[in-house]
Order: sequence, then C-alpha cells, then structure tokens
Amino acid sequence: MRDLAGKRVLLIVPGGIAAFKIPELIRLLRGRDCGVTCVLTQSGAQFVTKLTLQALTETTVYSDLFSLTDENEMGHIQLSRSADLVVVAPATANILAKMAAGIGDDLATTLLLATDKPVLAAPAMNVRMWLHAATQANMALLAARGVAVVGPDEGAMACNEYGPGRMSEPPAIVEAIEALLSPSRALNGKHAPLAGKHAIVTSGPTHEPIDPLRYIANRSSGRQGHAIAASLAALGARVTLVSGPVSVPDPRGVTVVHVESARQMLAACQDALPAEIAVCAAAVADWRVASAASGKIKKTPGAAPPTLELVPNPDILATLAAPGPRRPALVVGFAAETDDLMANAQAKRVRKGCDWIVANDVSPETGIMGGVENAVHLITADGVEDWPRLAKDEVARRLAARIAEALG
Ligand code: CTP
Repeated sequence: MRDLAGKRVLLIVPGGIAAFKIPELIRLLRGRDCGVTCVLTQSGAQFVTKLTLQALTETTVYSDLFSLTDENEMGHIQLSRSADLVVVAPATANILAKMAAGIGDDLATTLLLATDKPVLAAPAMNVRMWLHAATQANMALLAARGVAVVGPDEGAMACNEYGPGRMSEPPAIVEAIEALLSPSRALNGKHAPLAGKHAIVTSGPTHEPIDPLRYIANRSSGRQGHAIAASLAALGARVTLVSGPVSVPDPRGVTVVHVESARQMLAACQDALPAEIAVCAAAVADWRVASAASGKIKKTPGAAPPTLELVPNPDILATLAAPGPRRPALVVGFAAETDDLMANAQAKRVRKGCDWIVANDVSPETGIMGGVENAVHLITADGVEDWPRLAKDEVARRLAARIAEALG
C-alpha cells in the first residue's frame, strides 16, 4: 500500500502512558513512505525518549520553543506548515484543553496555533477525564473548528478502570491519517460515489436537564446513527456526526461533535452546514423542562412532588429540511413508532418536509430500541420499500448505498 507515499506528518507527542504506542505508529507510517517529524513535549519525554523518535523518524526531533538551534534550522511557523497533516497522539486532556482555549505555552501548542494544516487528535486519558464535562466541551469546540478525531477506544485502562479513553491502536490512527490525506484512496480502491459530498448525521438520545443531577432522556443507543455515519464515510463522504450522549465509540474517519441537549444538537448541525446530505437518526427529546433548576431539587417533607413544566424542543429535522439556500439536497428522517407505523411515518415525511423517512416499529416486543437489529421501511416520494430485519450496520450500508444512488 503506497497511499501515504510522499506525504508528511508532523507528529506531536504529549505526555501520556499511550506514548508507548508512538514508535509503532511511526514505524507503520514510515513503512508507507510517509515522512514523520516529531515534536516531543516536556511531559512526553517522560514516556518516550527523543533518541528513540529520532532513530525511527531519521530526522530532528523538536522540543524546545526557544532553542536557537531549532529556530535556526526551522522557525516554529515554518515547522507548523511544513507537513501535510498535524497529528496529536496521545492527545491528553491537558493538550486538548490548551488547543480549545488557544493557549500556546510551549513548542507543541504554539505549532498547533500557528498551523494552517488539518489537525488529527488521538485522545488518550483516564475514562473519568474523558467523560468530564470540560473535556467533552473542549472536544465539541475542537470538532466544530474542524479538528479530526480518532478514538478513543473503549476497554481496560492502565489505571485499572474500564471505559472509553484508550488511545486508538496505531493501525487505526494510520487509517484515519489516510482518510484525511487521501480520502478516496482510503477506500482501498473501492468505489467512492460520495467523494466531495458533506453529510451531517444526528445520532443518539438527547439529555434535557431538570437540575444539575437529573435529566430527561430516552433509550436510544446511537448504534443506527453511528453506523450510518460510518457507512456514508466508507462511500467517500465527509461526515459530521452530531451525537448525543452514547456509549458506542466514535466511528473512524468521521468528525464527531458531542452534544447533550436538543438545542445544542440543532446549533451543531447548523454550524456544520452547508451539506449535501442530512440524516436525522437521533432520538431527540420532544420536550425540555421550561427552566432547569440551577441547584439540586430537594424533597421537602410533607410537600407534593415537584411539577415539571415542559416546553417543546426545536425540531432539528424540520429545521434542516425547511426550504432555503442552505437546505441539503437530500434530507432523511427516521420515524420511530409504536402504533400505525406506516400511516404515521407517511404523515411525518410530509409534516417535516424531508425527502425520505426510514420508518421503524419500536414497540418493546421488537427489541429494536437499544438492540443491534432493525426492520425498516424506506418511504420516499415514489413509494415504500420494505426491508427485511437486518443488523443495524447492514441497514446503514443499504441506506448509504441508496443515498449514493439518489445523488449520483
Ligand atoms: N427529530 C428531530 N428533532 C426533534 C424531534 C425529532 O430532528 N425535536 C427527528 C428525528 O431525528 C427523526 C424524526 O424527527 O428523524 C422523527 O422522530 P420521531 O421521534 O419519530 O417523531 P417526533 O417528531 O418526535 O413525533 P412524534 O413524537 O409525534 O412521533
């Protein structure tokens, strides 16, 4: 495979235990004739040595912002622009926070501020740090600014905890680099009918706060929406996945914006426009609490339980499908119904103004909500296609193929 031949990656190595995977990442990239220049932060040097990186990259490893020698060789502005792609791995909570805040207090962060090249981050940290609201807010901000993200993976961690936070394995990072540097070739020579098209996909539930501890939610797992995002990317589309809180991992090669509430989901979708394709697979909460309490709602002995006043949430699908210059050419919605599936879904297509509706019966006995399979009917202006019960991944592949056919 020579897809990365002649490309150059500037690899920023911050301090995280996952830095032990970096020599393997460099080895894989060099094996593809991809040039690698490393910037090792002070804390990164606690986990991997400059000498190792220098030996593997066969070039200078930079680490000091004020080193005259380095500045003589190459100024930091020039260094930040000399590569085709800047990769941050392992992207610690600390460097991600600095990137989000625009802090440039060492060579690595200064380069990240100065670069005009695409940036890919491979997050790696403890599960609690990854799930912390501050990290998630930083990730949403970085994704909205176009920073691509690979991982993190879910699994056992060096700190003996389990969950999302493990840095993606080097082959997955190479795949993500390839997807950014040669998107159509990353399909391994396969047909890329959606190359050059941008797709926005919503997925997962939304959480609508009642107070700082409690929220209104639903049982959506995000599996179907995430699989659709991955399938559209596999056909060459540039995909922005706007995801509510889910435990399924971020799909590879897709820009993921993590949100919590319906209003945040709508704002992220609007920020991601323009797009040729929109697929709204999220189970958006229809209502939110009119004014969420700023402190925990306490029980008062003898008093009646609190009454929650609900107000409607914005309809993301209807907003994206509304006529106008920024309306995507193809807008696809889902109809999750428990009664009168087809009649309700047909009416929903017209009411929301979308082009297609993927209708599914989510009655508890079907096991579809939260499960791995789906049985759908594709409703278009031309009629209805009944699809057999399939794995959600297969539903996603078929839907992506139908989208490619329609836009082809
Ligand atoms: N949807 C949305 N924003 C909302 C509600 C729904 O984008 N606030 C989208 C969903 O992503 C889905 C479609 O609208 O693509 C239909 O969702 P569904 O829950 O089936 O319908 P509702 O609009 O909630 O209508 P109802 O609850 O009356 O069935």
